[in-house]
Amino acid sequence: MPPHILSSVPRKLHLQPAHPVSLVRQLLEQQFPNPTFRHINALDPVVSTAQNFDSLGFPDDHPGRARSDTYYINRTTLLRTHTSAHQAEAFAGVTAEQPGYLISADVYRRDAIDRTHYPVFHQTEGALVWDREALGVRDVADKVYADLAALPDHDIVVEDVNPPFHAVRNPRQERWHSEAECAAIGAHLKRSLELLVVRIFGLARAAARRASQGVPGGDEPLKVRWVEAYFPFTSPSWELEVFHEGAWLEILGCGVVRQELLNASAPASVREPTNWSSGWAFGIGLERIAMLLFRIPDIRLFWSTDQRFLSQFKSLQGPRGDGDLSGLEQGLRPFVPFSKYPACVKDVSFWVPGPTTTSSAAGGNPTRDDSQSFHENDVMEVVRAAAGDLVEDVRLVDQFVHPKTRRRSLCYRVSYRSLERTLTNIEANEMHDAVVRLLVERLGVEIR
Ligand code: PHE
Repeated sequence: MPPHILSSVPRKLHLQPAHPVSLVRQLLEQQFPNPTFRHINALDPVVSTAQNFDSLGFPDDHPGRARSDTYYINRTTLLRTHTSAHQAEAFAGVTAEQPGYLISADVYRRDAIDRTHYPVFHQTEGALVWDREALGVRDVADKVYADLAALPDHDIVVEDVNPPFHAVRNPRQERWHSEAECAAIGAHLKRSLELLVVRIFGLARAAARRASQGVPGGDEPLKVRWVEAYFPFTSPSWELEVFHEGAWLEILGCGVVRQELLNASAPASVREPTNWSSGWAFGIGLERIAMLLFRIPDIRLFWSTDQRFLSQFKSLQGPRGDGDLSGLEQGLRPFVPFSKYPACVKDVSFWVPGPTTTSSAAGGNPTRDDSQSFHENDVMEVVRAAAGDLVEDVRLVDQFVHPKTRRRSLCYRVSYRSLERTLTNIEANEMHDAVVRLLVERLGVEIR
């Protein structure tokens, strides 16, 4: 477990008053309010493989389980890779008065280094179920449609070309849910999340207008689209994309909860746990929303303790503290970068140890038995260990296999840049030397 990861655990950015990650969490909590949704914000990031994977139906060979993707503490204990790790416990806690929940938490993934990826980030997971026993019905479709009718309308453009479910691509859980019920839950889920987009992007656009920046496409109606997706713990499943500054941006994953999961986590008060309820769940990344809402250009900024960063959000948190976003409505202004300090760019080329595997080098699929094989995420981890948040970007710029020896050579380009000051070339050289030494020491590469 790298020290730079462990030291992030106590930070809890989603709970720091006026921190942009916390403001987005509060925005979600307003959108999915008490008492319908129980807000859960202090769950320990150390979970079991049963919680993070098994309870959710992840197959044994799923790449998410690989050591190259996940921070393991030991064979069966890890830092959660998503808030879905808590679905089972959270469903067991729902009641007739509080049939939904919202979990916000820090999550951990070994990943690339660039301006939108950081090995620690935050997610909010939401879910809502309809309890057949409590409602006194066997099929909840009518009840769900009635609840849908009570949700507000909106006027955004929604592209949703696929049927509510599809036998092959995006199946209904036939054994458990009628056609009407599956369609009703999907429709309620989609409208609930479209309303979330209306709220978030409405704020962002109003802020851009106030700053009279003129967002590209800012006067066109807001456009979203539903894309079929796959998650082991929902079916059917979707991703929601928003048309933002000329491109489709994926903002969340969601779907109709797998009945096996619900059945296994029925609250103690439920008399007949088999098919006791049915409902939806979604998961959304908070940094990505905060980056577009506040126009924050680099994900490392969230971890900055520099007042030039933090002070810009102070006025958005209202005087009544957590939950009071009165400052956000009128006061939201795009983040003003305090300066763009110069980058120092350095390359490192090396021979990869061991035989060349067939899959492509960087970004190749991790295999289940990844104990020996070389993975790009290991390079990222070494760079972070040696240079921490002073690295802005690491990318593979060249690779080849030697025709005779079959040895593989990789060249990575590392950009060093501080967000808070100018790095000297001497400093950057020292860091790069440390990166090179650690690559040799930890990964056994041969520098060229
Ligand atoms: N846990 C999923 C992810 O991290 C998101 C998700 C949550 C999808 C809940 C469906 C339901 O990508």
